[in-house]
Amino acid sequence: MKTGVFQFTPVFGDKEHNLRRIERVMEDVQADLLVLPELCTTGYLFTSAAEAQSMAESVPGGKTVRRLEAACRKKRLHVVAGLAEAAGGAFYNSAVLIGPEGWIGTYRKIHLFWKEKDWFARGNRPFKVWDIGKANVGLMICFDWIYPEAARSLALDGADILCHCANLVLPHCPDAMITRSLENRVFSITANRTGAESRGGSSELKFIGKSQMVGPWGEVLFRMDDKEEGVRLAEIDPKTARDKHIIPANDIFEDRKPEYYTG
Ligand code: ACM
Repeated sequence: MKTGVFQFTPVFGDKEHNLRRIERVMEDVQADLLVLPELCTTGYLFTSAAEAQSMAESVPGGKTVRRLEAACRKKRLHVVAGLAEAAGGAFYNSAVLIGPEGWIGTYRKIHLFWKEKDWFARGNRPFKVWDIGKANVGLMICFDWIYPEAARSLALDGADILCHCANLVLPHCPDAMITRSLENRVFSITANRTGAESRGGSSELKFIGKSQMVGPWGEVLFRMDDKEEGVRLAEIDPKTARDKHIIPANDIFEDRKPEYYTG
């Protein structure tokens, strides 16, 4: 299975430009699964809840999902993409999973970071895993990385691959995701963005790039640099994530002792 990321710098507020850029990449890519950054069609640094909400879309049915559906249908491709979602009068920082037959599912970010708490409602559904044929995939968004429970929940629910849409600004996540992969024996794909945003007189927010894929042994399959824009792919066998043995005597899931854990 060929999987990977498109790391780029979205132009804030220019959904059409960002979508065209994504569509061009999807047209050319030879892959089964491509992960895109968090809020990849709008940009990140909103100045108010009203501004974030003005760019939010229904899922499915909104412009971003419809355009990604068309591109996935054409290329027989699965995509995971971050976007601003409007649903029932609430607004979420969401990630959608789309395949050749259309929209499959949505994850609404549970662990909101910084001003996202002013712009979006917290995700109101549990972490979820979808079977896309060649793999079981679970979705998480950016700051979810700091909660081991996010990756653990997805892995316990059978995810082979953690699809992680991100707009990382702190430096720690790429290394932390090595541990998330190793401690759950799963693949992880972190798709981050590049560039910087400064809006409404706020100080500049710089995104760290470094999109990466990690395997179930914590092996880094690739890590992009901080400014590089483009696609990176790796060939994997997702089913290797189903063997949770770290040595023959230790299946790390069967050996868990939840009765002694807090929280
Ligand atoms: C983040 O959660 N976008 C840092």
